[in-house]
Amino acid sequence: MLEWSNRFATGIAEIDDQHQELFRQVNRLLEACSQGTGKALLPEIFDFLGKYAVEHFATEERYMERYGYPELAEHRKVHQEFVRTFLQFRQQAEAQGPGVHLVVQVNRVLVDWLKNHILKMDQEMGKFLQQALKK
Ligand SMILES: [Fe+2]
Repeated sequence: MLEWSNRFATGIAEIDDQHQELFRQVNRLLEACSQGTGKALLPEIFDFLGKYAVEHFATEERYMERYGYPELAEHRKVHQEFVRTFLQFRQQAEAQGPGVHLVVQVNRVLVDWLKNHILKMDQEMGKFLQQALKK
């Protein structure tokens, strides 16, 4: 399970709220993947998660654009790559259905990416935005 803690905070409330919602949705997905009854839930959870992630990335990119973040292009590219990975993974996951190895794959493909991205790229973005917001 993804558990929120302060080390994930960027200091930008809107972004932190969205990250927490992403954690909740990924946890719903993990739960559905671990239950035999989860197969019917997968499309709905993936739909929501996919749309939410796209909206969330747009929020971050709006902040970066507004405050002239120098790493915007690179950050946006990483978001786009993740969306592609997510869509491929979704297809594969829905075809395969719930089970232990789907849980393992969700952890590997989605959970690890999300943690890593928030702890590195989003933290750097957060530092910059906090400075910019002070001015
Ligand atoms: Fe990001």
